[in-house]
Amino acid sequence: MPLHEAVEGAQWWRSGAIYQIYPRSFADANGDGMGDLKGITQRLSSLAALGIDAIWLSPFYRSPQKDAGYDVSDYVSVDPLFGTLEDFDEMVTEAHRLSLRVMIDLVPNHSSSEHEWFQKALKAGPGSRERSYYHFKDGKGDDGELPPNNWQSMFGGPAWTRVEDGQWYAHLFDSSQPDLNWENPQVREEFEKILRFWLDRGVDGFRVDQPHAMAKAEGLPDHPYVDEAGAGFIEGRENPPMWFQDSVHEIFRDWRKILDSYPGDRAMCGEAYVLPLSFMALWVRPDEFHQTFNFRFLDAGWDRQALVSAIDESFEAFDAVGAPSTWVLNNHDVLRHVSRFGGDYGRTTASDGVGPNNPQPDNVLGLQKARAATLFMLGLPGASYLYQGEELGLPDHTTIAEEHRQDPTFFRTSGQRVGRDGCRVPLPWEMGNASNGFNQTGKAWLPQPDSYAALSRDQQQDKDGSTLTLYQLALKLRKQFQLGEGSFDWVSKTEALSYQNGKVQIVHNFSSEPKKLTGEVVISSMPLSKDGSLLPNDTAWVLV
Ligand code: NOJ
Repeated sequence: MPLHEAVEGAQWWRSGAIYQIYPRSFADANGDGMGDLKGITQRLSSLAALGIDAIWLSPFYRSPQKDAGYDVSDYVSVDPLFGTLEDFDEMVTEAHRLSLRVMIDLVPNHSSSEHEWFQKALKAGPGSRERSYYHFKDGKGDDGELPPNNWQSMFGGPAWTRVEDGQWYAHLFDSSQPDLNWENPQVREEFEKILRFWLDRGVDGFRVDQPHAMAKAEGLPDHPYVDEAGAGFIEGRENPPMWFQDSVHEIFRDWRKILDSYPGDRAMCGEAYVLPLSFMALWVRPDEFHQTFNFRFLDAGWDRQALVSAIDESFEAFDAVGAPSTWVLNNHDVLRHVSRFGGDYGRTTASDGVGPNNPQPDNVLGLQKARAATLFMLGLPGASYLYQGEELGLPDHTTIAEEHRQDPTFFRTSGQRVGRDGCRVPLPWEMGNASNGFNQTGKAWLPQPDSYAALSRDQQQDKDGSTLTLYQLALKLRKQFQLGEGSFDWVSKTEALSYQNGKVQIVHNFSSEPKKLTGEVVISSMPLSKDGSLLPNDTAWVLV
C-alpha cells in the first residue's frame, strides 16, 4: 500500500494549484503605481494559460494600509486604491469564465484601528459593550502605566498600546491592528455576516489569516517563556496563551456549516502556523477547515532529511483526518525561494527579510535550486500554493533603499528587521518602461530591482528552458497525470530523492554528482546530459 492513496473525483481544493495574487503588485490598470482589481481582470487569461486552478487574493478591502491591507477598516468593501465592488464582481465573473476558482483573504484576528468598531470602542470608554469587541484592559503598576501582561507583537515591541483614558488594548501585530475579542458573540455574528456577504458574491472560498491567534486564554495571562520565544512559540512546549487555544475550533465549525450551506464546493484554508503537524491535523477535521498551509514543508527548505520528514509527517497527519495536505514554497511573508535557496538564510531571516546590509543571495544558484524544488512540489498529491512571480523565477529585491520601506516590521524594530517588502515588489509583465509593464506609467509603489526586466513575462513566454515554460509544463503534466489527486510512495530517500505518484516518478538530485536516469524524462528543471541519461544537481520527472 502506498504511503498515501489516490483520491477519486477529488474536489478542486484537494488537488488544485492555487495561485496567490498580491493585488498591490499584480497589475495596475489605472497607472497610479498600485495594482488594482481591473488590472487583475485584464491579466487573468495569462494565469489560465499558466495552468492553475484557482486564485487567492490577498486583502483588497478598505484599509489605511498600515500592514498592506491586513488592517481592514471595512470588511464588506473594496478600498478605492483597488477599485470598486463592481470591479470585484467583474473579476469574479471573468475568473469563473476562465474556469478559475476565487478565494479571498479573511482577516478575523484583528481589524484596523480605523474600523468603526474600534472607533466606537475608544469613544464608549472602559467597561462598555463597545470595548468588549476588543481586548481592553487596565494596566499594571500604581497608575496602570505598565502593560497588562508581557505579550510581544509579532512585528516587534510590546503587544499593548495605551489609550487616552488609561486603558490598554492588545495587538499581536501593529498597534494599528487591535485584536478582536472572539469570546464576544457579537464579534462572531459580525463575521458570519461578512462570510455570507462574500459567499453571496460568488467567492469559492477563503484563506483565513492567523486563525490560531483568535482565541486567547482566559484572563490573558503572561507568556510563560517570552524571553526565548518572543511573540511566538516553541514546538513541543506548552502553548502560550495567545496561540492555538482549544476554544478556537468551535468558531471554524460554525463557519464550515455556513460554507456547506452554499451550493458548489466552497473551501477554507487556514494560515494556521501550528506544529507539530499531528496537532495541525485537528484544524482540518471534517467539520473544520478544508485545509491549512503546510509551513513545515516551506521550512524544510533545501534540507533533504527535513523534506523527507515533512512529507512523511504530512501524509500521516492529514490522511488520519481525511484532509489533503497542502504544499507551499512562497508567499508574501517570506523571502522568495530563489533568494532563500541562494543564501544561507534560516526561517527567521527569511521572514524578517534581507536588506542591503545583509549578505546577498546568489540568485543564479538559487534559481536552479528553486526550479528543482518547484518541480518536486508540483508532483506531490494535494493542493499546491504558488505565489505570484515565482513562475518567472523572480528573486527577492534585497537592496531596497530605506525611503521605500513599507512593512511595519521595519518601523517597529527601527530597521533592525527590514521586513517583507522584498517579496512584494510589482510584477514585470513586458520588458520596457520603468515598471516593465506593471502599468503604462512606470510608477510602482515599490521599485523593481534591475534584474526584473529580463525576467519579464514577455521575455519568457514560449521560450524553451524559461522558468515560465517550466511552470507551464509542470502544471500541464500535473493535470494530465492527475497528480494532485494521486498517490505517493517513496522510491528512494537517498541523495537522488524520488517518489512515485501513479505512473510518474519524480527524482530530485540532491548530491553534487550527476545521477544515472532510467526511464523517459518528460521534463527536467535544468538540461540533462547530452545523451539524456544523467540528471544534474536538480530535478527531473521520469515516466516509468
Ligand atoms: C499573516 C499575513 O500573511 C501577514 O502578511 C500579516 O502581516 C499578518 N498575518 C497580520 O495580519
